Amino acid sequence: MPKNKSSLQPPLAFSGNKRFWAGELADEALLLPAGARVWDVFGGSGVCSRVIKDARPDCEVVWNDHDGYSDRLLHAAETEDLRRSLIRMCGYEGCQDDGTRFRAPIKCALRDEVCSLFRAHFEKYGYFDGLTVRRWLSIGACKAPIDPYKPPADLYAHVPRASIRVGQALAWCDGLVVVHKDFLDLDIRPGDFLILDPPYVGSCVDEYSGRETLQILRGCRDLMEICPFILFGDASISFWYEVLTEKYNPRFFQKDGLISCFNGKLRSEVMFSTW
Ligand SMILES: C[S@@+](CC[C@H](N)C(=O)[O-])C[C@H]1O[C@@H](n2cnc3c(N)ncnc32)[C@H](O)[C@@H]1O
Repeated sequence: MPKNKSSLQPPLAFSGNKRFWAGELADEALLLPAGARVWDVFGGSGVCSRVIKDARPDCEVVWNDHDGYSDRLLHAAETEDLRRSLIRMCGYEGCQDDGTRFRAPIKCALRDEVCSLFRAHFEKYGYFDGLTVRRWLSIGACKAPIDPYKPPADLYAHVPRASIRVGQALAWCDGLVVVHKDFLDLDIRPGDFLILDPPYVGSCVDEYSGRETLQILRGCRDLMEICPFILFGDASISFWYEVLTEKYNPRFFQKDGLISCFNGKLRSEVMFSTW
């Protein structure tokens, strides 16, 4: 498993994914007993599940895909088709995919055509990956997907030159057990191992209120009583470092200076492990 923090990029955008922790996760995976069952309780993009499964193919890894990310993956070829159509519409056919993040601007004058293209795409495929399109159009950190029938008022839009890695998208779930549940309904049992990456308090990304987040953290606390866990959090959770240390004696990791998608600010993330 590569140690580099940028070595594992989920095939479609997912704010707050934990690819930066791929090296640490892979190391922790080596500590698991043979055939262990691992729950990626707040699975998001599934990147943690993917890392664990790749490091330990003998383990059963359950990705709790609460966001329907795996559905977006199934439609990756169609979404790539839409990207190519946008590239053509904007007159960038000559642009080669060089794998960089260079984005070709879409002129505001093309707004109506772009909107028609979105509608036509939705009508053709019966599917529209509004989250990926939101990311393309650079419309802030809001999590709500773009509706193909209600395009945003402003179109300071860009289209990525790098193509979606459709093959990687389709292989992303290989070997994983994928479920779509509220985490309280998961059939977690003593002897299982957990990855807990709950929504961060007050984070713009997840749009959870403090009260909701506290309820989720209470649920996590109950799970931590019965199973070894890896717990992620932003730096604020490190206030609990002493409490967690006293009770569980976890291994502790911290990364500083990650760029948050919230206002482009820097923040630190921490990871506790009792695996
Ligand atoms: C910080 S993100 C996890 C990111 C993920 N570890 C990754 O690397 O992509 C938190 C996730 O918890 C999910 N979530 C929120 N409430 C949940 C619930 N009640 N049950 C299960 N998942 C939930 C959110 O949809 C979001 O995907």
